[in-house]
Formats: sequence, structure tokens, C-alpha cells
Amino acid sequence: MKIQFTETVLRDANQSLVATRMPFEKFEGILPVLDECGYYSVECWGGATFDSCLRYLDEDPWERLRGIKAAMPKTKLQMLLRGQNILGYKHYPDDIVRMFVQKAVKNGIDIIRIFDALNDMRNIKVAVEETVKCGALASGAISYTTSPVHTIAKYVETVKEMKEMGCGTICIKDMAGMITPGETERLIKGIKDAVPEMPVVLHTHCTTGMAFMSILMAAQCGCDVIDTALSSFSGGTSQPATETINIALKELGFDTGLDNAKLKQANDHFKPIRDEFLASGLLKPKALVTDTDALNYKVPGGMLSNMMANLQDMNALDRMDEALLEIPEVRRDMGYPPLVTPLSQMVGNQAVTNVLVGERYKNVSKEIKAYMRGEYGRAPGEINAELQKKVLGDETPLTCRFADTLEPGFETGKKEIGDLTTCDEDVLSYVAFPAQAKAFLEKRREKEERKVKYSIVEAE
Ligand code: CO
Repeated sequence: MKIQFTETVLRDANQSLVATRMPFEKFEGILPVLDECGYYSVECWGGATFDSCLRYLDEDPWERLRGIKAAMPKTKLQMLLRGQNILGYKHYPDDIVRMFVQKAVKNGIDIIRIFDALNDMRNIKVAVEETVKCGALASGAISYTTSPVHTIAKYVETVKEMKEMGCGTICIKDMAGMITPGETERLIKGIKDAVPEMPVVLHTHCTTGMAFMSILMAAQCGCDVIDTALSSFSGGTSQPATETINIALKELGFDTGLDNAKLKQANDHFKPIRDEFLASGLLKPKALVTDTDALNYKVPGGMLSNMMANLQDMNALDRMDEALLEIPEVRRDMGYPPLVTPLSQMVGNQAVTNVLVGERYKNVSKEIKAYMRGEYGRAPGEINAELQKKVLGDETPLTCRFADTLEPGFETGKKEIGDLTTCDEDVLSYVAFPAQAKAFLEKRREKEERKVKYSIVEAE
């Protein structure tokens, strides 16, 4: 029996525990050791790393990627991509998606995990196609959720579609840590029965305390790859600990391919970094504990705390129970979107609004309106037709992808940012995060100019 590991300390653990604020210099030194651990892959890029590099760390995300690649040439490097949204929440035209994939692969990415919040396959198709074309592995990720329309049969259909598209592996992406061992078993067996040759990856979080059990169940059901984080950045809202799972599974007879001593060496490097983050307050003890509210309310933890904060702002925390009861109603009206960003916020806000206004959908946010128009993609189930008509008025919903309504964006972006950029990667940074990238590129320009001045003085 074989099972392999994807290490998330550089991306998801970093993002979940410390808001992606770990600078490259903090982990650069340990990369050669990570390269020797025996991982299936190391998830190190994409998600919020890109934005955080530009916004907070004064780092060029592309340079970070090249740096990681140079220091760990053996291990496959993995990134997370939100399909047509690349790294954010708005839809980009196809030329941007394709160029982004090309440059990611060129700069060192081997595996691109691609998902869409609604599981609308049209929104991942271009990214998957381009990934395969570039010779990298496309891992199709299912945004995991439970609802009357999210049946095992429906998930299996999605997996078949992903395979058809060219995905080389399938990831069950449980971003809220809500998958139970029973669901894990049904889902993995369902996929394996229908598409036996397709490798399956399980991605979950420790948030509710289910993850260790679900991972064990996954391993026993023939899951091929699991996501874990080195112990000092594991647990709570992050992934379960790599070392613990490795020892447990090895003892059960699994060949994990991991080297215990190297894992320890790597973890010893991250321990003091974790302590620094704790001391600075960036890592909050609350992020490290188990919180079962999500299981009771069937609502992700992040969404609960958002709703609570909103109600508190409006001095209406006593309406929380009503708002929680309203969530399944709103979700049904919207055709059961998975409760992942940004849909979780949209559903949560609408539930709160419905309760506080005292009349359903009297006020509807522009995001919900865009959703009803089909700008986020196709809803998994049926949208309440009466509501849709009320919200849209004379407008008709889109029949194509939202991206089909967009003009190509690369050349326009290039013109806009002008001579601050020195390569296509810079242009992509700008297109993805205009304000942050512009500020970063301006600062870089200033630094270079200072350097030039200094070297002229030296030459004299
Ligand atoms: Co995650």
C-alpha cells in the first residue's frame, strides 16, 4: 500500500495560520532539506501567497517561485489556482488565464491544483487545458460541500468531466474542514469505483477536529495523496501534522516515502518561526484550537465569525440564531452554492440582511445580483426562478461564461502599467493585483535607481 504526501507549510498552513506573512528569507535556508523529505509535492505558491508577497512582504512572487525551484530541484512544486479567477475573486479573460499558467510553469510550477467555487467546469476548463499544454499536471479540485444536490453521483460526474478535460489527479478540497470519515469513505469509494485509475488527493483542515480521522479513512479507502503540514504549522485552521500521520500510516503498513529524520530537521527549522509569529500576535492561539461550531451549524467557521462580526457591528448579535436559520433558505434559493469564499460571505450577508430588514430579499447586494445573472458561473442546483426574476427585472441571465463577455486583457494591462514592468510576469502581477503590484514595481524602480547612482559614484 502506497500513499504520498503534499506538504503545505509554505502555502496553505502559512495562509491559514499566519495570513500568508512568512517571508521567503525565513524558509529559504530549509528548502534543500524539504527537497530531501520525500514528498509527492510541496504546495508553495498561488492562493494568497501572491497578493501577500506584493502587499505586505515587498517580494516579487515570481522571484520567490524561482528561488524555491532553484533550492529544491527534485520535489514537484505545486500551486493553487482559482480557475478563471486565477488568484482572486473576479473573472479574467482567457488570454490572462493562459498566460498566467504558462508563466507559472515556466518559472517552476509542476502541479496546478485548479478549482472553481461553484464547481462550474466551464470556469476551470481553460486553465486545465493550458496546464496540460505546458506539460504540467492539472489537478482538478472539487469544492467540497454538502447539500441535497451535492450527491456522490454528482461528484462522480464532476470527476469524469475533469478527467475528460485532461486532469491527471482529482482533489477533494474541503476548505472548511467539515468532511467526516463517513463522507470521506463514500466519496473516495464512489470516485474509485467509477474512475479507478484516477489518483485521488484529500485536502482538508483541522478546524473542526475531523481531519485526522478523515485522513486515516481516506488512506484505508485507497486515497493516493494527502495534504499535511509540518507539525509546528499544523492543527487548528491548518492541516494535520505531517510527522504524526506519517508515523501512524507507516505503522499500518503504508509506504509513505517520507524520511522521518529529514522531517524532524525541517520541523525544527519552523518551530522558532512559529514561536515568533505567536509572540508578535500574527498567529492567534484561537487559530490553533478545535472549534466544532461549524459542525453544529453546517456552516464554515470563517463564515460564522464574519456573520457574528457583522451583527455585532449593527448591535444585533441577539439575532444570530435567526440568521443561522435563514442560511439554508438563502442557500436553497441560490441553488445550493458551496459555502466557500466569496459565496459564503454573500450567503451570510444576505441571510443577515433578510433577518434584520424583516422581509426576504427586500435588499439584495450587487454581488447576489451578479450571481443571479450568472456572473459567477452556473449554480449547482436550480435558482429560485421567482426570486431571480425579481432581482434581475428585465435583464436576462447569461447563457455563456462570464469570461466570454470580457475583452482580452494582457495588452491593455501592459499599456496601462507602462515602463514600470521589465517582463510579462510583471504585467501579470499588475493585472492580478493592480494597486499592490504598481506600488511594488515603483518601489523596485526606486531601489534600482539608487543602486545605479551608487555604482556610478563607485566607478569614479
Ligand atoms: Co485549504
